[in-house]
Parts: sequence; C-alpha cells; structure tokens
Amino acid sequence: MTDAARADDAARTFTVRDIAVLASHIKSARRVTIMTGAGVSAASGVATFRGPQGLWREFRPEDLATPDAFARDPQVVWEWYAWRREQIAACQPNAAHEVIANWAKGVRPQNDPSMGSDHLRRTFVITQNVDDLHVRAGTPGLIRLHGSIWEVSCLARCAAGARPWRDERVPLSPCPPLCPHCGGLARPAVVWFGESLDRATLDAAVQATACDVFLTIGTSSIVYPAAGLVHEARSRGAFTAEINVEATPASSTVDLAIHGAAEQILPLLNE
Ligand code: APR
Repeated sequence: MTDAARADDAARTFTVRDIAVLASHIKSARRVTIMTGAGVSAASGVATFRGPQGLWREFRPEDLATPDAFARDPQVVWEWYAWRREQIAACQPNAAHEVIANWAKGVRPQNDPSMGSDHLRRTFVITQNVDDLHVRAGTPGLIRLHGSIWEVSCLARCAAGARPWRDERVPLSPCPPLCPHCGGLARPAVVWFGESLDRATLDAAVQATACDVFLTIGTSSIVYPAAGLVHEARSRGAFTAEINVEATPASSTVDLAIHGAAEQILPLLNE
C-alpha cells in the first residue's frame, strides 16, 4: 500500500467528535504550538523516513546521515542530498502546510463569530522537516529543529563559513559544493544522527511548549529531543493531541490521538 493509500484508509478511523473536541480546544486557546514531522509533507510527495515507503527502508542512516558517514565518503552523502533536493524542489506545500501557515500568521477561521475581538491566538510552529515547505507556505517564525536541506555550511567551520548560507541550486554543481570562504568542503546544514541540536533553536522549541494546546503532527515520535516536546507540553498543562495516520509511541500519552492524514484533518479543524 502506498503512503497516500494508507493515509486514505486511516483517515476513516477518526470521529466527528474527535474533530469537534480538538477544534474547541484550539478555538479557546491563547497559545497553540504545533510540532511537525515528515508525515506533514507526505501528501506533497516528499518521502518520509520510516514506514513502508520510508527512506530508511532503502538507505541506512549510518551510511548517509552521520558525521562519520560524511567523513568516510562525502561524495556519496552529497549525491544523496542532491537527489533529495531535486525531489523536494518539485514538491509544493499541501493543505496541511497551508492551514498551519494561516494559523501562524494569525488568520482566524472565517466562520468564527463567537470569538471576541480581544481573543488573540498565537500559534508557534516547530518542525523536524528540512524541506522548508512550511516556509514556502508562508509560516512565520518557524523553529527548524533539524536545519534545512537548502542551507549549507563549512565543514571545517572556518570563520566566515561556520554560519549556514542558502544554496538552492538544483542540480547542485559542483557536487560536493565547496565553502566560498576557505575553499574546503561544504556540508548540508542539517542535524545528523549523533549531533546536537542548535542550542538556541532547542531553547526556542522548549519555550514554545508553554502553551494551551500542543499538536504533534505526522511524526513517528521516536527521535529525541523532538519527541520529548509533547511530554514537556503536557507536564506544563497543555492539552496535547496527535494527528498521524498510524499509532506512535506518543499516541497513548496524548490527551487525544486522531488517526488520519494531516492534509485532511487540519482543514476540518477550520470548519
Ligand atoms: N498525515 C499524517 N501523518 C502521516 C502522513 C500523513 N499524510 N503520512 C505519513 N504519516 C506519519 C507516519 O505514520 C509516521 O508516523 O508520519 C510519520 C513520519 O515518521 P518519520 O518518517 O519517522 O518522520 P519523522 O518523525 O519526521 O522523523 C524524525 O528522523 O531520520 C530522522 O532527521 C530525520 O527529522 C527526521 C527524524
């Protein structure tokens, strides 16, 4: 079964009441925080990592997404990233990205006369995705825990090249790209297995767990520290909910687990 077919199948398992409960919590919230994973981009055609069609079925993370792998064979690692960049460049944000962007921009649902004009809802968005589809959908203030596939940095962290810069060339040439400052190898500015997240980015994500509603959407909830944020939010008193086509380790601990596709469920929350 394809990811899309699984999504269609699973979408039939949520109830109207689930949607109403979540919509009501969101409507009365002053701070909503959303954390997304690869499943949010699945309907756009971006491959997820796990699951039947996932990248980690075909490739081994230890060959492609670790500092050691890059040290062993930067050419192979860069070719894999160049291939993913080509795939992602051809994808467009889907309905899930659009709804999230509208919430983050402060646009309220149209048919929402019951909310007083003094009710301001702020939405914070954290993502594990490196595809930048949230950015392309217009989400402001995005917290990108794992970096961006469209940014590169100097492997040697030379003075001018340690800070990531944007490189949106498709196809990537030369591959591997070089640091324009020192001429050494450049690397994808993403967080690989075994690397620490950027401290300020993680701090911003943890701060965002102080919210009324925390939604974890389209993530397998097994990669930490991202997977811990929903628990942090719950311990701080947030109503927590998951939207995913299948059960994850988070499903049993959130207040509400909705089994459906993000691009189908999120638009329903606006109605
Ligand atoms: N709607 C909602 N959920 C979906 C959809 C969809 N349309 N399609 C797939 N999913 C779910 C899958 O059921 C799965 O639980 O999205 C999840 C995707 O999980 P992963 O592929 O593991 O992606 P993610 O959780 O983002 O991975 C975390 O792992 O390899 C690393 O760095 C990589 O950031 C990534 C991290």
